[in-house]
Amino acid sequence: MTLFRLLAAAVLCLIAIPAAAQTVAQAPSGSQIVATADSPSKVIHVDVTLSPEGRVGYIVSRQGKPVIAESRLGFLFTDAPQMLRNFKLAGQATRSFDQTWEEPWGEYRTIRDRYNELAVSFDETKWLKRRMTVVFRLFDDGIGFRYELPRAPDFTHANIADELTEFNVAEPGTAWWDEALEWNRAEYLYRRTPIDEVGVAQTPITFRTDSGLHLSIHEAALVDYSGMDLRRVHDNVFKAMLMPSSTGPKVSRGLPLATPWRVIMIAPDAPGLYKSAQIILNLNEPNKLGDVSWFKPMKYVGIWWEMHLDKSTWNSGPKHGATTANAKRYIDFAAKNGFGGVLVEGWNKGWDDDPDGNGWFAWGKDFSFTQPYPDFDLPAVAAYAHKKGVGLIGHHETAGNIANYEKQLIPALELYRRLGIHAVKTGYVADAGGIQALGADGKIHFEWHQGQVMVDHHLKVITEAAKRQIAVDAHEPVKDTGLRRTYPNWVSREGQRGMEYNAWGEPKNPPEHEANLVFTRMLSGPMDFTPGIVSLKGKDDTPILSTLAKQLALYVVIYSPIQMAADLPENYEANPKTFKFIKEVAVDWDDTRMLAGEVGDLAVFARKQRGAPTWFLGAVGDEQERHFDVALDFLDPGRRYRAEIYRDGADADYRTNPRAIVIEQRIVTARDRMAMRIAPGGGAAVRFVALDN
Ligand code: NOJ
Ligand code: CA
Repeated sequence: MTLFRLLAAAVLCLIAIPAAAQTVAQAPSGSQIVATADSPSKVIHVDVTLSPEGRVGYIVSRQGKPVIAESRLGFLFTDAPQMLRNFKLAGQATRSFDQTWEEPWGEYRTIRDRYNELAVSFDETKWLKRRMTVVFRLFDDGIGFRYELPRAPDFTHANIADELTEFNVAEPGTAWWDEALEWNRAEYLYRRTPIDEVGVAQTPITFRTDSGLHLSIHEAALVDYSGMDLRRVHDNVFKAMLMPSSTGPKVSRGLPLATPWRVIMIAPDAPGLYKSAQIILNLNEPNKLGDVSWFKPMKYVGIWWEMHLDKSTWNSGPKHGATTANAKRYIDFAAKNGFGGVLVEGWNKGWDDDPDGNGWFAWGKDFSFTQPYPDFDLPAVAAYAHKKGVGLIGHHETAGNIANYEKQLIPALELYRRLGIHAVKTGYVADAGGIQALGADGKIHFEWHQGQVMVDHHLKVITEAAKRQIAVDAHEPVKDTGLRRTYPNWVSREGQRGMEYNAWGEPKNPPEHEANLVFTRMLSGPMDFTPGIVSLKGKDDTPILSTLAKQLALYVVIYSPIQMAADLPENYEANPKTFKFIKEVAVDWDDTRMLAGEVGDLAVFARKQRGAPTWFLGAVGDEQERHFDVALDFLDPGRRYRAEIYRDGADADYRTNPRAIVIEQRIVTARDRMAMRIAPGGGAAVRFVALDN
């Protein structure tokens, strides 16, 4: 059976309609509607407009109600006239597509990719007489659109100063968003404001309109281009703002080109919004790597939290964490408890402070990706792990110095290949705008984590790693735009505040953080959040703002095909009852359902373990007490299940009594319901074990 078995036939039809044959309707602005399309079940509708001065725009509605009011499209260039006015319709084509594909690993075994496509071409009547084609794909729960710019005699290279794409949100409402272009990259707490108080935001940005519609704007298939932020221009009108580049144009590439997809997820409620994120994957190309069965979704432990607690160090010296003996201790712990991997950070030379005292994170120049510190015998540790049936996870922290990393990339990956290491965690700790890259002029240029240089860099690492059967988990990454469909060795990434903020963060992650993440960052793809701090303690024994049950819930709520059991081994050994859930929880799923959810308040998930009848439920709330009462109708109707429940104790509260937990069992069937109280800062986790009856 091929990995991407077609489960339904693709229906393709291409109808080219000559421009002259169009019936012309008017948009409220007085623009002509020159093309329209509906989603397969006619839920979503798009109008494409042309103003009297030849400006191209689009309008989106859902079930007859405006979602995106008329919004303009176009480009600015640094060395050519803008593409904004003076367009005339040149032609249009439609096609329909319906195919179900299989994820090699993921939240769902299969995903249906069903859309109607409308491609509309416009020609400039003046200047360079260039063509701009806009391709829309309409799904029943959102749209994607992208530009295609063909090559023309006087237009062979695009130096894009900015994209003029607008998103004019039709209704007032609430936005969940985090700042873009700030020093700390993607790692800001989500803000909740009226839509018309957003500033410059990263994507995904999520909206709930006053009528209850849930929207999120993001992008898909970000390749050889620069990442998109959104700047609110006025009222509820947002404009694309591409990430800067050191060389002037934000994007520079030859023509023809197709931009990443601009995506608007549209759903009637929060659970529907979560599911609509499948669009991001559907807008990416199918798997280019073929069989990736050498990557196995797994849980892992590692020499990691102890550094964040300052109990040991990445750098060499008396507190060095990555010693041979310590790595063997973690390998033994992993083997004993059934974990697939052991991450070792700080194994390689280059972590010692630079002479100016800036620390490794502002430097990166000294990192060797092949030479271990003398107290870490890499081949011996790899052999020991292999003997114990555990995989090592390599570590490449670059401190944002990709000039240094790229020089060593091939030998670094070759080393891991030779040692049978099938996964690497990469890292780009540098302030925003602090990526050091080798420019075409042979000099170091300072770039942005989400700029075109980094977009290209990540893909280079991914493809070189894939050639050597190595999976990549990028921290301080470029945002996820669904490229894991095309390159399924790109298994996870960070890209928001993870658990490490609960070690040393100022402030720590607040109780609503994960209920925000689910409906924002998580729409883009897996996050290596590193859950499971059962000690509930950060650095210097400071409390983390969570109950014990919530730490278990995170394994179900925050999706990643690699999930860390992040706490110290001794803390798990001291908490065997809750550690049991962490050992047993699955990491790869046949199906995912959100049973209840409200952005920033609550998320209740049921997920079915891949290839097994076992289901898991995970729920997180926020700083308030929350309740849910859900049907268990996702269970197989013919079976009985033992529900192993881990819930907040009656008096649990993240401020006063975070460790109060009830662990109990119940026999349930698909006809039952499950009602629970989530404590302030709390959560719940359940394992449903299918019984033989
Ligand atoms: C930041 C990463 O998020 C963290 O996981 C890692 O331990 C440090 N950088 C060092 O690479
Ligand atoms: Ca809240």
